[in-house]
Amino acid sequence: SSEKPWGGRFSEPTDAFVERFTASVDFDQRLYHHDITGSIAHATMLAKVGVLTDDERDQIIEGLKGVKADIEAGRFEWSVSLEDVHMNIEAALTDRIGITGKKLHTGRSRNDQVATDIRLYLRDEIDVIAEELNRLQNGLLDLAEREADTIMPGFTHLQTAQPVTFGHHLLAWYEMLVRDGERLQDCRKRVNVMPLGAAALAGTTYPIDRNLTADLLGFDRPTENSLDSVSDRDFAIEFCSSAALLMTHLSRFSEELVLWTSAQFDFIDLPDRFCTGSSIMPQKKNPDVPELVRGKTGRVNGHLISLLTLMKSQPLAYNKDNQEDKEPLFDTVDTVKGSLKAYADMIPAIRSKSANMRVAAKNGFSTATDLADYLVKKGVAFRDAHEIVGKSVAFGVAEGRDLSDMTLEELQQFSDYITDDVFDVLTLEGSVQARDHLGGTAPDQVRAAVQRARAGRK
Ligand code: ARG
Repeated sequence: SSEKPWGGRFSEPTDAFVERFTASVDFDQRLYHHDITGSIAHATMLAKVGVLTDDERDQIIEGLKGVKADIEAGRFEWSVSLEDVHMNIEAALTDRIGITGKKLHTGRSRNDQVATDIRLYLRDEIDVIAEELNRLQNGLLDLAEREADTIMPGFTHLQTAQPVTFGHHLLAWYEMLVRDGERLQDCRKRVNVMPLGAAALAGTTYPIDRNLTADLLGFDRPTENSLDSVSDRDFAIEFCSSAALLMTHLSRFSEELVLWTSAQFDFIDLPDRFCTGSSIMPQKKNPDVPELVRGKTGRVNGHLISLLTLMKSQPLAYNKDNQEDKEPLFDTVDTVKGSLKAYADMIPAIRSKSANMRVAAKNGFSTATDLADYLVKKGVAFRDAHEIVGKSVAFGVAEGRDLSDMTLEELQQFSDYITDDVFDVLTLEGSVQARDHLGGTAPDQVRAAVQRARAGRK
């Protein structure tokens, strides 16, 4: 039908189902703000190069601001027959200001328009995500500082390995999140380039000034190649890949919080406001926030695969397939933002149960390596020391006692090199304090690492 902006060459109306099937307005209306911002910059540039008069530009800008006000006031009627956010807004502009509204699309196509809108949208969302990430990182640093002296068992294979400080463990998470932040900022560089001017695929015959439009929109530069400009979705894939890694980190984090709040570990307390109960079992307090974040990692991983698959066979340049880029991208943004918000709110509220952590660290022969190192310092070869300590542990297992609970005589059955100074290294405090180097678990190293981390941030 000729009411479609592209209806001129068509002789029958779009099939009713096809109209709904091909429309994206239900989900791409979220881009309205960036679509209007892009259009205002485009009109400003067109006037500067003489394609529009100043008066036409002013009418268009006023009209677009009016459309935006209508959308934000909930007065806007989105129409499926106008397919997408771009044609809905353009039609509303023309309703408002008449024929001048029809000049806005000069030298532009929805292909470069949508690519520009998504980049503007994603740039803003990356900045919001970076803020939430920052809040979480600061919360982790504060908690790590408070817990610098708290001793817990460190694990490998989820078996007690060596004592570590809780602060040190928290800083491991912090490091993962630092890398996630760096990846997001690196991705932002490739998001922040401007496709506008590529038009449908080949560029346009008007004397456009792409540098001007890029400046007006805060892009670092215009893109180089018009075909690439309308078909490139690498930036969205890259974002989803960074997001998938970030969610993977939050998921590992979640797994530990779930374990640690269980009665079997009982290492930490999560305040009630981050937990929910059971409708049947009155005693339950479930760590729903970490569980849900762990679960949501699945959908973000899925979105990454969706976008990779969406792109894998597309010939140049724009294809309608690309309309499918939005829902995975939007849901990734929403999921990451929500998960980070929940974590940034929750982390400062974690309370350690240090007595339980201590008992657990003590129970698992976690200072066995310290005893081996002690023997090496007395002149025993490491492999022999390993064997000696292994036998001591076997004795302890049989007796139901930790190394530090044995008498000197009992320990000396395994090696003459053991003297009464051995008890200094068998304590949990001695063990963590001895790992006193850059990156080690000693409380002073944790405090120093927190200071370095804070100094490297704003
Ligand atoms: N709704 C479309 C999208 O999301 C906008 C571009 C459509 N261009 C076209 N020639 N059909 O990609």
